[in-house]
Amino acid sequence: MKEFLEQYNNDLSSASPEEALRYFNNLFPGQCIFSTSLGAEDQVLTEIISTGYPSIRIFTLDTGRLFQETCDLIRITEQKYNIKIEIFFPDHFSVENMVNSKGINLFYDSVENRKECCHIRKIEPLTRALKGMKVWITGLRREQSAARSGVGMVNFDETQSILKLNPLINWKEEEVWSVIRSKKIPYNSLHDKGFPSIGCLPCTRAILPGEDFRAGRWWWEDGSKKECGLHNNET
Ligand code: ADX
Ligand code: SF4
Repeated sequence: MKEFLEQYNNDLSSASPEEALRYFNNLFPGQCIFSTSLGAEDQVLTEIISTGYPSIRIFTLDTGRLFQETCDLIRITEQKYNIKIEIFFPDHFSVENMVNSKGINLFYDSVENRKECCHIRKIEPLTRALKGMKVWITGLRREQSAARSGVGMVNFDETQSILKLNPLINWKEEEVWSVIRSKKIPYNSLHDKGFPSIGCLPCTRAILPGEDFRAGRWWWEDGSKKECGLHNNET
């Protein structure tokens, strides 16, 4: 799979999200899976996948610290598209050990604690969700951060040993919102309250006009370290 990366990227150099999804769904039927955080980009992909490629599984990682608005949107999205979003939870023993030894809000105390929390609440469940799959579909866009600016449409994730497809990688924020509005796609109400990027409640705040897209994520940390480990593992 990894050896064909260049070919995949050449084949899809001017592909639309629909074409990219069709390409991989044909190559690896039943082995493509989409991770949604219920953010704006992911809602666009949910619309495309549920209407055109219903055999692609859709899952979310419920960290136990999500916003109520995100949980509400899971239900609204399932009802609108008549789909089931699979929910993966962290291992409860690991969460208990972590919070009982380091505190319920350990993430504010150090980058190391924050990464441990992200690992237990996101990475371990992600690894279970991706098991047996060949293609992991995400809503990443290059414009979202400096760390994502060099990412291609198709990559190989070394940590998860899986092909990673980012169908919206070249999209601008305006394109995402134009499709959401024209197709009346349900979206997280927090986007209207200054949250362009939404993760866990204790680790996400609204941004001020002019602030960076991801400034509200782990806002107390140095900007260069603001990834949770889900991404930036690609070649
Ligand atoms: S994060 O790494 O900083 O949390 P971000 O919120 O930008 O990621 O989302 C980028 C992509 O990661 C989403 O489009 C989605 O594919 C995936 N993702 C992020 N959070 C989750 C989640 N809780 N559950 C499933 N997928 C997620
Ligand atoms: Fe834990 Fe915050 Fe990471 Fe969520 S974003 S898993 S609460 S550190």
